Amino acid sequence: MILFAVVLLSVFQIVELLVLGNKTVVCYGGPGTYTGVDRYNQIGSWNQTYHPADPQQIHVSWISDGKAFTVQFSTMDPIKRSTLVYWSDDEDENETIEGGQNWEFIDGGIAKHSQFMHTLASNRLYPSTLYEYKVITIDNKDKSHVSNTFELHTPDLDQSTSFKFIATGDVGVVNAVSMPIFKQLAKSHDYDFVAIMGDQGYDLADFNGTKGDEYMNFAQEFYATVPILTTAGNHESAYNFSHYKNRFDLLPYKQSDFSDAMQYSINYKSLHLISFATEVFFYGSPEQIQTSLNWLEQDLIKATRQRSSVPWIAVIGHRPLYCSILSNPDCAENAERIRFGFDQQLGLETLMTKYNVDAYICGHKHNYERTFPVRNNTLLTTSYHNPPSFFQVITGNAGNYEGPDQFDNTSVLPDWLGHRFQGYGFSTVQVSHHHFDLHHYETNIDGTLGKLQDHVRVSKTPSHVNKQKIV
Ligand SMILES: [Fe+2]
Repeated sequence: MILFAVVLLSVFQIVELLVLGNKTVVCYGGPGTYTGVDRYNQIGSWNQTYHPADPQQIHVSWISDGKAFTVQFSTMDPIKRSTLVYWSDDEDENETIEGGQNWEFIDGGIAKHSQFMHTLASNRLYPSTLYEYKVITIDNKDKSHVSNTFELHTPDLDQSTSFKFIATGDVGVVNAVSMPIFKQLAKSHDYDFVAIMGDQGYDLADFNGTKGDEYMNFAQEFYATVPILTTAGNHESAYNFSHYKNRFDLLPYKQSDFSDAMQYSINYKSLHLISFATEVFFYGSPEQIQTSLNWLEQDLIKATRQRSSVPWIAVIGHRPLYCSILSNPDCAENAERIRFGFDQQLGLETLMTKYNVDAYICGHKHNYERTFPVRNNTLLTTSYHNPPSFFQVITGNAGNYEGPDQFDNTSVLPDWLGHRFQGYGFSTVQVSHHHFDLHHYETNIDGTLGKLQDHVRVSKTPSHVNKQKIV
């Protein structure tokens, strides 16, 4: 008999005691520990037993700048073929996509846990349309296996109208406090994608990669409805980020001219969104760092050329360039390394300021922080109207087993700090041609939506956008 007992050790940390026979195992849901059942993950059928040929771990992302989508899923056995079927109320017939990419992914652990990854891309979709879709696999005995049906909506074609996306990070399977809200928000179809700033599964590679399977099934109800645009965190670093690269192969890196899912960009209406791998500064060789930065600069050059029609440039990455717990290396030497590189010559901030990036959104620290427009560790202005530099938001407080990072109340706060919030929460961003509105909402400890904790509106005039085109 398996018995789960939940013991509250602190306000923010949940530890479970898993009793297997007479052996008790403490499970935190953190790296190297089992995933237990808690109040945020017990709902739904995510931990069901799948047939080896059943499609599972279904997730979607945008391609072709939001005009088509890719679905990715796993089967534990090889299959003969897979099919994506999608339809809308406006169309008489279903669209059926066959073929796609299929490959075996073997975890780097001792068990060599194997699974088969499948991606299928839609054709061009109609704008402003609610689609339903499912995936079907045919196993080696010619038996078909059909997934649940999921919904997905497309944006309109009017560049000037606004859209919204969710921004979050550091989620986990245990103590994923915000996940119940995310699954509700997915059903609302108010959000066109979710930007996830890394550290998803704590860790995807744990227990011979089976924790990654658990996480992807746990998140399926969210990730199969709201297209995901992610970036890799330090908790995805195992085996040269192989879990991240394989599980998120659907990300639009091929059309972004990068070699794998670690970096890519997408235009979405008036926003150019870039995913940059800050982990390269900690796990990469000097050559890999240079490759990442070279790609970023080329992408920023292209984004600058189209800035009249796509005025906003936002970069998502895992680690912060600025954070206020100054006694923590992440807010000191690690942040500086990402900003300016090892040689103080070329880093992420160097390029973001050269090409006038508007916003940098990250996670890693488990709280919320917003800077004023900042450059070189210096406050430039407290105004967000036609700002002379980017501002940064940390939104790494979705949940996860570690709980919120505690602020250091003894140190003097840096003047570039606009606002900070210690607690669980997530951000939403609304983008129109002239405005970029970021809201941060608290998530209550019972998993319900809490108070609005912060709102910032960045505004730009056409003349300011013209200035931003000058490099
Ligand atoms: Fe992290």
